[in-house]
Amino acid sequence: MQQLKICGGRRLVGEIRVSGAKNAALPILAASLLTADDLVLHNVPDLADVRTMLKLLSGMGVRVERNGTDVTLNAGAVTSTVAPYELVKTMRASVLTLCPLVARFGTAEVSLPGGCAIGARPVDQHIRGLRQLGASVEIDHGYVKAQAARLTGAHLVTDMVTVTGTENLVMAAVLADGVTVIENAAREPEVVDLCNCLKAMGAKIEGEGTPVIRIEGVERLHGAEHTVIADRIEAGSFFVAAVVTQGDVLVTHCEPRHMEVVLDKLREAGAQLNVGADWVRVRMTGRPKPVSVRTVPHPGFPTDMQAQFMTLNCLAEGTARITETIFENRFMHVPELMRLGAQISIEGHTAIVQGVPALTGATIMATDLRASASLVIAALAAQGESTVDRIYHLDRGYEHMEDKLRSLGADIVRVNA
Ligand code: EPZ
Repeated sequence: MQQLKICGGRRLVGEIRVSGAKNAALPILAASLLTADDLVLHNVPDLADVRTMLKLLSGMGVRVERNGTDVTLNAGAVTSTVAPYELVKTMRASVLTLCPLVARFGTAEVSLPGGCAIGARPVDQHIRGLRQLGASVEIDHGYVKAQAARLTGAHLVTDMVTVTGTENLVMAAVLADGVTVIENAAREPEVVDLCNCLKAMGAKIEGEGTPVIRIEGVERLHGAEHTVIADRIEAGSFFVAAVVTQGDVLVTHCEPRHMEVVLDKLREAGAQLNVGADWVRVRMTGRPKPVSVRTVPHPGFPTDMQAQFMTLNCLAEGTARITETIFENRFMHVPELMRLGAQISIEGHTAIVQGVPALTGATIMATDLRASASLVIAALAAQGESTVDRIYHLDRGYEHMEDKLRSLGADIVRVNA
């Protein structure tokens, strides 16, 4: 088991480059199943979850060639339409292979992902939409088994906004016979990036980024070349690290227009921001002001930034309220932050954070991806040494995070425990 040893209290100063977005790369990699031609991708981050998706696709017979952040995939000779439990249990986004497999091959057998630390995270909306598009779908021994000679366009309204649910159903509809309308669609930039890639492959899609997406099915999709958007959550995590260490950090190759709400909240906290076309500079002196947030679907405040802003508020001059409306169990970083001296109480889905002048180092345990980022950020600000355990959670969504932080002056090393 690996750990991060962090000696906190040092300002982060310098420039770092953001990687490609994990949550855009994962659906786009799955989209390679929709064509027999090459899909050539750039800016694909080197993350555990991406490696898992590439392993899953390779196991289906997809040819994968990787050279740094460039990945070429070819699904011209797929040999299996099964996504096995052994892989799906390690990465729930494997469910994104379900609809491309049914759309192109008429059949799919994808393990149910099971729950995860932050919630039950069912996939009932994926299944319900696929049935409405004409597939026969049954759950058998923990697997979703779907069949369809050819999917038929339909009018879909999801029960709630679901990011991968929207992505899966778009990928089902692009090869369906007729027109599909998805209402209550997710508007995240990662959904838009997937749609842009699919349109480059010949799909007919409009309305992406709005609550209503309209897809006109086509007979086949062709190959394309696509560059994955920047990771707005990685960028946001570094912004918060700059604030809590009273630093001065320039984050490049990011997309500020995907982060308007987060940037506004950083200004509310008292950070000084300079914003360019593809860069943001964050400077901070003194303690942040408290910033209350309520997580909602895009374009509102993102749930994937909730834990990081919890850390910011732990050091704020006052009290903040953080309400999590997307997942039912996304406060597991709270008891770990309290080991560092944070003062937090939880009332239902709201955490009340009373800022303190300083945190002190301790041994803490990561529980899920974004919680682990919030703990690393807190340790960077804490006085003294911290050890963050179970950092495999961090590696799922952050590319070489300790290297990037060290380049900004952090005293951080990865050790084998
Ligand atoms: C995506 O997860 C992201 N993952 C998550 O990022 C992100 O937190 C989440 O969207 C919300 O923005 C990827 O894109 C790979 P949802 P997803 O379906 O699609 C309920 C990270 O840290 N729901 O939008 O699984 C669900 O339980 C990860 O990078 C159903 O009930 O989330 C949740 O309460 C964590 N039935 C809500 O909807 C369904 O069929 C939103 O979930 C689908 C979802």
